[in-house]
Amino acid sequence: MKVQTYEHYLDEILIDEDRLQARIAELGKQLSEDYADCPDLLLLCILKGGVMFLTDLSRHLDVPHMIDFMAASSYGVGARHSSGSVRIDMDLQTDVRGKHVLVVEDIIDSGHTLGFVLKTLRNREPASLKLCALLNKQSRREIELEVDYIGFDIENKFVFGYGLDLDERFRNLPFVGVVRPDALLDE
Ligand code: IMP
Ligand code: MG
Repeated sequence: MKVQTYEHYLDEILIDEDRLQARIAELGKQLSEDYADCPDLLLLCILKGGVMFLTDLSRHLDVPHMIDFMAASSYGVGARHSSGSVRIDMDLQTDVRGKHVLVVEDIIDSGHTLGFVLKTLRNREPASLKLCALLNKQSRREIELEVDYIGFDIENKFVFGYGLDLDERFRNLPFVGVVRPDALLDE
């Protein structure tokens, strides 16, 4: 398949750059208040999708914090829908015991990935463990999850840009766009 430029796959821009950045600034302010007196805050980015969100969010935090990275993937069904089987592809380096961990994720869909990641982290006894997701597809949830901070609740549409990929591409787009349904089919 020849890879086209992003316009070929874009149905509509769902969240433009201004709205994204304004909401991330708000989240940063909220987190700075909530973690104001918190030593040992660790922002834990779930790769790869969370990376743009993490770097922008981190710059809006005025409390000292560490960052680290973890990669997890689900497998068993097609690449676009996660199954119940999740594995850790890359573990974080930081010992989370006694630290205040805030997991930073691009999108929560079924919840399988995050459910597994949170269970793994909880076993390592952090002082606190909270979850911050830029996008939330509540209607797709199969696993019960408490999401402490949400950027935007979105409908059940496949989206890309701002960290989210379409077959590993277009993570660099500064907005979140909806994929044209026929573009998903014509591979
Ligand atoms: P879950 O385990 O079903 O919650 O899936 C979460 C993961 O699926 C996310 O971290 C994304 O990598 C991927 N994902 C889910 N929905 C989308 C989407 O609309 N666009 C791009 N990736 C998605
Ligand atoms: Mg992905």
